[in-house]
Amino acid sequence: MCFIPFLYKDFLMAVVAFCFIGELVVMIDENVLDKFSVLVSSQQLHKPKIQMKENFDWSKFIRYFACTEGETFMITKIYGHRGCMGTYPENTLAGFMQAIREGVDGIELDVHMTKDGEIVVIHDEFLDRTTDGTGYIKDLTFAEIRKYSAGVKFSHYDAFVDQWRLEKVPTLKEVLELLKPYEVELNIELKTTRFMYKGIEEAVHQIVQSYGNNRKVIYSSFHLPTLMRMNKLDPNADIALLVEGMLPHPHEYLDYFHLESVHISKSAILNNVAHWKPVFPRLRAWTVNDANDMKQLFDLRVAAIMTDFPEKALIYRNEREAFI
Ligand code: G3P
Ligand code: CA
Repeated sequence: MCFIPFLYKDFLMAVVAFCFIGELVVMIDENVLDKFSVLVSSQQLHKPKIQMKENFDWSKFIRYFACTEGETFMITKIYGHRGCMGTYPENTLAGFMQAIREGVDGIELDVHMTKDGEIVVIHDEFLDRTTDGTGYIKDLTFAEIRKYSAGVKFSHYDAFVDQWRLEKVPTLKEVLELLKPYEVELNIELKTTRFMYKGIEEAVHQIVQSYGNNRKVIYSSFHLPTLMRMNKLDPNADIALLVEGMLPHPHEYLDYFHLESVHISKSAILNNVAHWKPVFPRLRAWTVNDANDMKQLFDLRVAAIMTDFPEKALIYRNEREAFI
């Protein structure tokens, strides 16, 4: 008996081959979407036998193998935008933990650099909107930033608990350490459009190398030179261009700039579906909070949606998948 991991084309070959040479026993792990595992024995000629695990999903299996050549079976992933910002304080450890509890496939966050070179996770260039502090991140030391609460401004949320008052602006390292036990992808948006933060790409890359635990990390930015610097530092890094509106010939952008993907506003996709269709598997859509938008984007099978309400997105995705 031997163990063979295989992909779509190999499966057809395996079926044909083993029908002739022996019994085929297929063990399929329902959690693995783009590959399956096969156990092959050759005890009984011409009688292929297929065994499924208890949680095996036939409809997923059929859809996977119904893909035409070149297509990849894919279910749209759900990323928690700034953690779980619709219900929890954005870009905080409490919010990231909640997104994980709700079952996200990935997390999106934003980074800036402090005056003394620390990489911190916060959306704005300044403290004022999301904390009880004030001032630009670039003008403050990390110690100064840590004096303030990153949770207190969210006391109007239903889920508010006093513990949120103790939330601080986290470092990227702290977030990676929090994520360590969980198999979630991470999208780090480098906020370099307003201030340049000299050396931010190297600093972020080095932290991910040290604490990323080999998880899939996508570096995104609206600022193309930031992505090019990241690519120069690490040609294998997954880089994604953030786009708000139209991008002519998206294929050329993907190829020419060695982009893993384009992170595009949901309205840009939904207003011009035909334009984006050839690159759906390489699009992550932001920020998708409306139920109808979620359903449409799941049906289009873009790579991922980013949402402030992961729990809601998971419910709609489960519904969609059950019908297909
Ligand atoms: O990464 C997509 C989205 O997060 C970009 O917008 O303003 O929420 O960072 P913003
Ligand atoms: Ca962002």
